[in-house]
Amino acid sequence: MNQPNKYAATNATQIRNILELIGQFSEEFRNMNGRIIDIGCGPGNTTRDILVPCVGREAVIVGADISPEMIEYAKQHYAVDDKLSFIELDMQTSELPKNLIEQFDHAVSFYALHWCKNTLKALQNIYKLLRPGGKAIILTISHHMIYDMYPEQEKDPRFAPYMQVIFISIRFLNLSHFSMDFTFSKNKTFVLRTRPTYRKIFHENVFLLL
Ligand SMILES: C[S@@+](CC[C@H](N)C(=O)[O-])C[C@H]1O[C@@H](n2cnc3c(N)ncnc32)[C@H](O)[C@@H]1O
Repeated sequence: MNQPNKYAATNATQIRNILELIGQFSEEFRNMNGRIIDIGCGPGNTTRDILVPCVGREAVIVGADISPEMIEYAKQHYAVDDKLSFIELDMQTSELPKNLIEQFDHAVSFYALHWCKNTLKALQNIYKLLRPGGKAIILTISHHMIYDMYPEQEKDPRFAPYMQVIFISIRFLNLSHFSMDFTFSKNKTFVLRTRPTYRKIFHENVFLLL
């Protein structure tokens, strides 16, 4: 996940699903103003082309990603003066930079949380980034039926040599239900439309579940 050019040219599926998510939460996105962080922004194309147009006009957006290559590419291709900037950030870090804590009115994250081994830590960090009352909307993959096929493919000598690479990239998919989106609010009010594994994490962290 460090080839911004290739990713930006091939993320049509992600874009389609992000647009669908935005359609479902259109009011929430329209009302997003203040400072917004897009966590796991990748090369920055979805941040600028999809997120920026659907949030409030006054919003200031920061795209954040663990990959220096992605951030460098995003800065070069998608930064917009005073409107959209990009920073390196590991959402699983155990030392969240102090200058980011409670600095955002909203957090979004599209197709990035499932790359985290420690989902809980990532969610705790997203929570810390938010100001009191801040809201997060997250789209992630917890499981896809294609992953059920991989063990079978591994048994086939034609595919076996390639499977290790695939297994390395999916070994972080440690949750066991289908893909999802969910929102949460820093004033501990709600968690919507999340799957059971995430519900457990939220429940144990004093969120109210609707
Ligand atoms: C599939 S891309 C999604 C990019 C963009 N959000 C989109 O939907 O097109 C996942 C991104 O998450 C980033 N990522 C993975 N682990 C991360 C972490 N711990 N902290 C921040 N970003 C991370 C990867 O570097 C990658 O750019």
